[in-house]
Amino acid sequence: MLVAGGISTDALGTAPTIADIRLLAKRRIPKMAFDFADGGADAENTLRANIDDLAKVTFIPRSLVDVSQQRLETTIAGEKMPLPILLGPAGSVRIFGGDGELSAVRAAGKAGLTYTISTASSWSIEEIAAEATGPLWFQLYMWRNRETVRTLVDRAAAVGCTALVVTVDVAVNGKRARDHRNGMSIPPKVTLRNALGVARHPKWFASLMRGPAIGFRNLQGIAEGSSAMSHQEYINTELVNLSATWEDIVWLRSIWKGPLFVKGVMSLGDADRAADAGADGIFVSNHGGRQLDGLPSSISVLPGIVDSVGDRLNIIFDGGIRSGGDVMKAKAIGADAVALGRSWVWGAAAAGERGVERVINIYRAELRETLILLGLDDVADLDRQFVSWPREWSPERDPASVPLP
Ligand SMILES: Cc1cc2nc3c(=O)[nH]c(=O)nc-3n(C[C@H](O)[C@H](O)[C@H](O)COP(=O)(O)O)c2cc1C
Repeated sequence: MLVAGGISTDALGTAPTIADIRLLAKRRIPKMAFDFADGGADAENTLRANIDDLAKVTFIPRSLVDVSQQRLETTIAGEKMPLPILLGPAGSVRIFGGDGELSAVRAAGKAGLTYTISTASSWSIEEIAAEATGPLWFQLYMWRNRETVRTLVDRAAAVGCTALVVTVDVAVNGKRARDHRNGMSIPPKVTLRNALGVARHPKWFASLMRGPAIGFRNLQGIAEGSSAMSHQEYINTELVNLSATWEDIVWLRSIWKGPLFVKGVMSLGDADRAADAGADGIFVSNHGGRQLDGLPSSISVLPGIVDSVGDRLNIIFDGGIRSGGDVMKAKAIGADAVALGRSWVWGAAAAGERGVERVINIYRAELRETLILLGLDDVADLDRQFVSWPREWSPERDPASVPLP
């Protein structure tokens, strides 16, 4: 049977892996939109390393253990999660067609999974929260004007977001070569380079035209009336903050009462500073290879960071996660939970809400299977005995894990 967007319910329902969901997304939307999610910064070395290094972690299972009951519940900063995964922040999701973030938050709510609203969402905090039936977190960029930041934080608290996730690895946007080549911009513009792709995906294009203009909707009330600048000029001159420091985290700590996470930690020094600034947790993350190319994979710095701050901070991991097995590897090394990035975005691009539901169902089934095959009945008992990883990732030998002065 065919459904809106041309993806058959069978193709979606029988898609066995996240890799298949990615291919469905690739078929449904133009190359410029697909590459915007799929691509990374510069030569994409970090993007590739995230995936390649997860494959270097191998399992050491236990056989003949009674695994007739399986428990996958996890608690992070006092919040119970039905699975050790959450939907991490992704902005501009309407670029991928349909109603973007709204589809995703509905699917997350049905599964009881936490959804992280991005500052750069294509719907406002309030519009997304209105569709939510599950827990919400809010991801913040540390912009220049503290009043702007405070307004966003207050709005997030007002709609019931329980945790604040402060992203610290986007002082400027990484150079995404694929976006430059494809003539990709926000809002998207039809150019000679991408006109054919747009023409071949009329349903995608129509869905873009149906909703509000694609941009940073959370800033509309704030940017309006502040000056006669264009939206982009406003972002570049008023928002981008090259002088943000850990003092800003200390300040946010003072105004945000719930759990506070620092997202984009890749070294022991930053992990320590996050703890000292009063954070409850960190996202060990290189932004999915979309920011500084040349960073190591996030999985390769996880062991050292867990050893250093695991007893003081909640550790969320992201970068390159494409299966339940990947989630279990990060959990075994010491992450408390894993944030999905491209996985759920591809689901939204492939088939909106049903696509994200399918992604969550794939993860749930793979997590259960991996738990059983490892010989465990409770994910809480998963630890380093169950995995092996390259010795060069050990803290003494990994320069990224040596504390900064
Ligand atoms: C399309 C897209 C948009 C994103 N937008 C944001 C954002 O607004 N804020 C943020 O902190 N991270 C953002 N990220 C990064 C993700 O939160 C996450 O760190 C990364 O995607 C994890 O890697 P993975 O995609 O390989 O799983 C975005 C990622 C993608 C793919």
